[in-house]
Amino acid sequence: MKKIREMQAVGDLIPGAPFEEPERQLLFMDKCRELIEEKAKAAGRPLTAAVINFGCQMNARDAEKLRGILKQIGYEIIEEETADFVLYNTCTVRDNANQKVYGRLGYQKTFKKQNPEMIVALCGCMMQEPEVIEKIKKSYRFVDIIFGTHNVYRLAELLYAHLTSKSMIIDVWKDTDSSVETLPVDRKYTFKSGVNIMYGCNNFCSYCIVPYVRGRERSRTPEEILSECRKLADEGIVEVMLLGQNVNSYGKNLENPISFAQLLREVEKIDGIKRIRFMTSHPKDLSDELIQVMKESKKICRHLHLPLQSGSSRILKIMNRRYDKEKYLALAEKIKREIPDIALTTDIIVGFPGETEEDFEETLDVVRKVRYSSAFTFIYSKRTGTPAAAMEDQIPEEVSKERFGRLLALVQEIAAEECVHLTGQVQQVLVETTSNHEGMVSGRLSNNMVVHFPGAEDQIGNFVNVRLDEAKGFYYIGTQVES
Ligand code: SAH
Ligand code: SF4
Ligand code: F3S
Repeated sequence: MKKIREMQAVGDLIPGAPFEEPERQLLFMDKCRELIEEKAKAAGRPLTAAVINFGCQMNARDAEKLRGILKQIGYEIIEEETADFVLYNTCTVRDNANQKVYGRLGYQKTFKKQNPEMIVALCGCMMQEPEVIEKIKKSYRFVDIIFGTHNVYRLAELLYAHLTSKSMIIDVWKDTDSSVETLPVDRKYTFKSGVNIMYGCNNFCSYCIVPYVRGRERSRTPEEILSECRKLADEGIVEVMLLGQNVNSYGKNLENPISFAQLLREVEKIDGIKRIRFMTSHPKDLSDELIQVMKESKKICRHLHLPLQSGSSRILKIMNRRYDKEKYLALAEKIKREIPDIALTTDIIVGFPGETEEDFEETLDVVRKVRYSSAFTFIYSKRTGTPAAAMEDQIPEEVSKERFGRLLALVQEIAAEECVHLTGQVQQVLVETTSNHEGMVSGRLSNNMVVHFPGAEDQIGNFVNVRLDEAKGFYYIGTQVES
């Protein structure tokens, strides 16, 4: 039977290997590369790797780092789950995210029977939960490598440990105060990129597992962030998305504190960067300074994602969101008054423990008043270890589902009405992909809405002016016009 090795017990795999990063990982990448080259020679073809990603923008960014490392090691990156190395970067924010991963692992077992040399690895938020690790050790013994959210940069070292021992390698850290951002990255797009400005979360909303699996809030220094943005601009990136679970509290705990708004002002000064986006903005910390900076900026996109979660002040209090309905509405109104062309989007949870019909009506009321241009709506999912999981009065599934249906219908109706406002206008679009329809390309407006219009692949990454001919509810069909 396959041995299990917890990384702490593996010791120094290569005597004399440097302890500093990134030097240490660069050495392990070279060592892995030699082993993978040998295997490729024996197989008579290049070896392939796939990183299957679940979850939020943070995970998407981590996936780019993981692919970067695998590419450096000599793998050809593909998307199919039949690759020689398959890595699942997991999410655990709601139970259905976990179920998807277990479903995929079920298939992996068969693939691995067909290709015994195949390596299956798991990382990301789900792996930070001890009961998940226990389940995998017990029921998914074919998994080769497991690591968490705090040590993604160690992939090469863990792979080396597996290749040289054939054991199941487990390396999950409870928390960390460091991060390594200087390893190779395989970016999905050549023209836009996410940039982590902070990690973790300190808010402990009572339903949410993120603070437990991503650790405490840590901001990167502005120097590091700006130098990364400048490097991206030099490489041709025109749009950056600044990432954090609560970007509005960025910089507060740094040795030299700086506000998120001040950071935005600095990013704005970088020549090559033409568009700046950010995610996610917690309403409790959104400052007037931020609204001012957005208003004056030529580069910050006309889009603000402002998660509501619930419209009921009573529920918001139990959720530990630290704002109430009135405060949220006043904030949304102020933002719209100051920046009239802004599109507001949100996240809403229905069926939080104890939610009554009246509470739910309050949520609908906020949706009617704020008029979001889109909203992510979720049925509350009980997460082990969070305060809400232990609350009485969990809402029956049929009640949540019925409310969810009503909420979704309202959100879609309002989004479609909001979408119509821009019809006929000419707007600048950053072309992102070819569309599913022959001869069409797709891009985004500053307000994050998607537009499809006749165009060619060589326009990807360019800004073009597009007339929005037809509103289709949550996207537009347009025509390019001369600039
Ligand atoms: N940091 C972000 C949210 C990250 S999680 C913020 O505070 O806005 C993304 C979304 O998942 C949340 O906004 C919330 O709507 C949803 N979510 C989180 N935990 C959930 C749970 N237990 N059940 C259902 N939805 C949840
Ligand atoms: Fe979760 Fe709240 Fe933190 Fe967002 S702010 S990640 S919802 S705990
Ligand atoms: Fe999911 Fe982790 Fe993001 S739990 S939502 S991938 S921070």
